[in-house]
This record gives sequence, C-alpha cells and structure tokens, in this order.
Amino acid sequence: MRRAGAAAAEILLEVGPEVCPGVTTDHIDELVHEATIARGGYPSPLNYRGYPKSVCTSVNEVICHGIPDSRPLADGDIINVDVTIYLDGVHGDTSVTFAVGEIADEDRRLVVETWVAMCEGITAVAPGQPVHAIGRSIERHARRHGLGVVREFIGHGIGTEFHSSLQIPHYYDPRASTILEAGMTFTVEPMLTLGDPACGMWNDNWTAVTLDGRRTAQFEHTVLVTKDGVELLTVASDGTIPAEAFSVATPA
Ligand code: MF3
Ligand code: CO
Ligand code: CO
Repeated sequence: MRRAGAAAAEILLEVGPEVCPGVTTDHIDELVHEATIARGGYPSPLNYRGYPKSVCTSVNEVICHGIPDSRPLADGDIINVDVTIYLDGVHGDTSVTFAVGEIADEDRRLVVETWVAMCEGITAVAPGQPVHAIGRSIERHARRHGLGVVREFIGHGIGTEFHSSLQIPHYYDPRASTILEAGMTFTVEPMLTLGDPACGMWNDNWTAVTLDGRRTAQFEHTVLVTKDGVELLTVASDGTIPAEAFSVATPA
C-alpha cells in the first residue's frame, strides 16, 4: 500500500506542472496513463464500472468523476486531477485541485480551505475513534468558512479493492459508528462548495456537478490507521506531498 500510494503521489507530482491554460484534459489523461504504465501499474479508473479514461479531471463546477475530453483548460479554471494506480495487487488513490493560471481570490480560498478541511479530517483519524469523527471535523471546518460539503460522494476503504465496503462520510453522520483500528486503509476526499452542495449528474452518468453551477474543490489522500494515529500513504518516496508542492494549497 505504501508503494502504490507513493506511485500515485509521484504521478500527480509529474503531471502537476503540465496543468496550464491551453492544455486539454485528454492530454492530462494521456500523461497519467503513460506515467502509470511506466511504473508497472494499471490506471484503476480505466474500465472501472465502464469508466472510459485513466484519470478523473473535474473542472470548476464539476464535483468529481469528470471525464477527460478535448476542452482546453482556460486561465482562471480550477481542476481536480484524481489519480488511482493499481500496483502489485493494491490501489493508491489521491487527488489535488490545481489552479490554472491566475484564479479569483474566492476560488483560491475555496481550494485552500478544502485542503485544510481534508487535513482536519485526517487529523481525526486514530485507533479507537469512530469513523464519524472524520466527517465531524471536516464539516466543522467547512461551516466556519461558509463552505458546503457534498454528501453524495464519500471516502472509502481501499486495498486489494478500489472501493471496499467501509464508508467515510465527509459530514457528521452518527451512523458511521465503526471504530477505527490499526491496519485499516481508506481515503479521505472531501468535496467542498462555494454555494449549495446539492449535486446533479450529466447524462454521461459520471460527471457530478453542483446544481447551482458554482465552483467546488476536492483533495484526497489514502491513509493508514497506525497503532497511535495515522500515516499518509499517498506521499512521494522522498516525502513530498503533492498538494504542498503546488502552492495553491498552501495558505499565503
Ligand atoms: N478516484 C475516485 C475516488 O476517489 C474514483 C474514480 S472512479 C472512476 O474514489 F471510475 F470514475 F474513475
Ligand atoms: Co477515492
Ligand atoms: Co480518487
């Protein structure tokens, strides 16, 4: 899991500098596909439940599962690139929201606070804690900043399966009462919105969008519950955390 996680992070670090105005999401798909194969892995999204590409690219009002296409990125866009690699029998899943060129202050605030919300969620992870401690922390941070939390898509157990039965809501859900135990691996991947978090779906049955058309951001790590806390698995082998390498996630 550490190797798959590091590979996923390193792929994000590799494609990050290519995310700029004029580049198509199809090109990002190609880069992720090639980088995944070059590491001896398989891009988990490709043909997963019929998904047609090797990565998810979610631009502006797209919440998640955006399908790469021929639209060139424009200055001022925000885009989440969600990479999952299947390597040596297990999956590593991680995503970052990038700024394309110069973005509006409001959008930067959305991106930064979504990153902080994910970190708050991860900080709540420890053995003996209930799963709902994670969503409670994320939701508290979002509320403090006047941001919405998407409820339709949640974090998930991950390992030999891409999505296992363990569910990690990003809002407080008292039913998420499973107690965390050392050795569990799952994702924390909150999607926050500037406006109403209500969600719609394009007729491709993948592209999830905000109903009000306002922007949304997401970050994702795969994590391991350790005997005294939590370990990030989606970190490059030299310790680099992709979001931190791209300054948009770092409060100025
Ligand atoms: N990587 C996404 C997640 O975080 C799942 C993408 S499924 C796909 O769970 F089929 F859309 F690729
Ligand atoms: Co995931
Ligand atoms: Co993902």
